[in-house]
This record gives sequence, C-alpha cells and structure tokens, in this order.
Amino acid sequence: MKIAEYMQQMVARLDSADLCYGHGTDNPLDEAFYLIYGLLGIDFADELAAQNELKPEQEAMLEAALKRRIEERVPTAYLVGRAWFAGHEFFSDERALVPRSPIAELINGEFEPLLHEPAGKILDLCTGGGSIGIAIALLWPNCEVDLADISADALELAKKNIALHGLGSRVRTLESDLFDAVDLRYDLIVANPPYVPVEEYDTLPAEFTREPSLGLISDDAGLQIPLRILRDSVDYLSSEGLLVMEVGYSHPQLSERLRQVPLLWLEFEQGGEGVLALTARQLQQYREQFI
Ligand SMILES: C[S@@+](CC[C@H](N)C(=O)[O-])C[C@H]1O[C@@H](n2cnc3c(N)ncnc32)[C@H](O)[C@@H]1O
Repeated sequence: MKIAEYMQQMVARLDSADLCYGHGTDNPLDEAFYLIYGLLGIDFADELAAQNELKPEQEAMLEAALKRRIEERVPTAYLVGRAWFAGHEFFSDERALVPRSPIAELINGEFEPLLHEPAGKILDLCTGGGSIGIAIALLWPNCEVDLADISADALELAKKNIALHGLGSRVRTLESDLFDAVDLRYDLIVANPPYVPVEEYDTLPAEFTREPSLGLISDDAGLQIPLRILRDSVDYLSSEGLLVMEVGYSHPQLSERLRQVPLLWLEFEQGGEGVLALTARQLQQYREQFI
C-alpha cells in the first residue's frame, strides 16, 4: 500500500474515533500527516513521499501509534516525540505540555507593536519544554534568555531543546517556584502558567490528562498563579520592561477580578485568546489589586 492510501484510511479511523484535537492540530487530516510523516522521519515538505510504498515494519509501527492515539488518547506530539512551535522543531514528551501557545504569533510578529526593538534579557516563566523562550532566542540573535520552571523533569526536556538549537551560550534553565530562584531584572517576561480551575480539570478531554497536571491546574478558580505573577513581576522587570502572560479561557474571570486594571488583551489572527500585556509601570501602579 502507498503512504497516501494508508493516510486516507488513517484519516477515516481518526475521524470516527471522537478524538480531541488542540495539541498542535485541529483536524484528522493534519493529525494523520503529523503521525505518519513524523514517525517515518519524512520531511513535511516532501511532496513525492506520499507515493512511496509503506513497508510492513513501518505499517506495524504506525498501527501501534494509532492504537495509542485512539485507545489511550496520547497526543500525537508525544507519540512522534516532536512538536513544531513558531516555525521551529522541539522535542516533546510527557514531561511538559505540548507547545501550542498563541504567543507563537507574537514571536513571529517580533512582538510588534508592543516592542519596537529586540529585548536584551528575557525570562520565560513556567517554561515547560522551553519552546517560548527558545523561539525568542532564535528570533533575536543577541538576546539572553532564562527558562524557569518548578518541574525538574520539564527543565530536562528544555535542556534537550536548548541543545537541539545550539543555544547553550545564551539560554539557561532555572529550577524555581515562580520567581523564588530568579535574581535578575528582565526587559521582557513571557509566561504561560497553569490557569485551569481544578474542578474544570476533571471535565477536560482525556488528551489533556496525558499532560502533567502541574502544567494545567491553578487554585482560586485558575487565577492563583497568574495573580502571583502579576503581583511579583515588577520586581524582576527593568523600568521599561513588559510582561506578556497567557491565561487562556480564564481571561473573563481575571478581567472580572481586576476591574480597576486596564488589562490589554491581545488579538490573534491564527486563533487563541487570553494573552495580556502590562508594562512594568502598570504592574507597579496596580500592584495592590493583584490579590
Ligand atoms: C501551561 S504549562 C506551559 C509550558 C510552556 N511554557 C508552553 O507554553 O508550552 C505551565 C508550566 O508551568 C510550570 N509550573 C507550574 N507551577 C509552577 C510554579 N509555581 N513555578 C514555576 N513553574 C510552574 C509547570 O511545570 C508547566 O511546565
């Protein structure tokens, strides 16, 4: 059987399996393409590969992965071991969430109009596998980036990704409960922290429970960790610094809680919501609200 034919069959099987997408793809065709090309190590741009014959051992490998995708709801990124974010390839596994933040669109747009020149020192707080901070380091060749996370496991994955991109001289990891081990000031702090209320976590599709819950759950209706970041960031930003933080679908709750604060919610052409930007001055001005 040719790869193209097998892919058609896989699309139909994925389609009838009532899966949840949202870990890098949003439809069965992209998912099948990701799984087949990713596991066979075929370049996604190779237009002729679909006409190649599938070898029996390749088919067996793909069948085993498809079974885990459908029966165990393992996200495709974990099955392939790779994810793509902001146009770059990353290692991806169960130690960190699959990268998917809409912050990718900001990175690709060089943070315009929020920033008019590259930031020099950047902190990626709650970095997971490091995709956001590493993509920024790849964008701005002279910047230095710290990747902070409370999870030593996630930071091991981030270290693999730093090595993958040859960024060891400019990007370092910090094991830290939010800012506890941070002792610098930054021009830009980016954060995609946990923001899922615990009661909502139990209702999420099974694919999300394959990811570390430490990366998803936050107390106080999802707002505890985002509010701590809002309260403390100003102490780690330069006077002209900027905080960009994702709170996803918890943004109405945060807006409601912080009615006095002029939160700037960013808009995305490629989908996604709940990313805010606040300057160091605003964080200082409204600090007492962040409780
Ligand atoms: C939503 S995931 C984001 C991962 C990555 N930045 C991304 O966008 O894919 C949140 C991350 O926050 C980390 N985390 C949870 N609580 C933390 C804390 N108190 N201090 C630092 N990191 C924390 C988790 O380990 C997880 O890697």
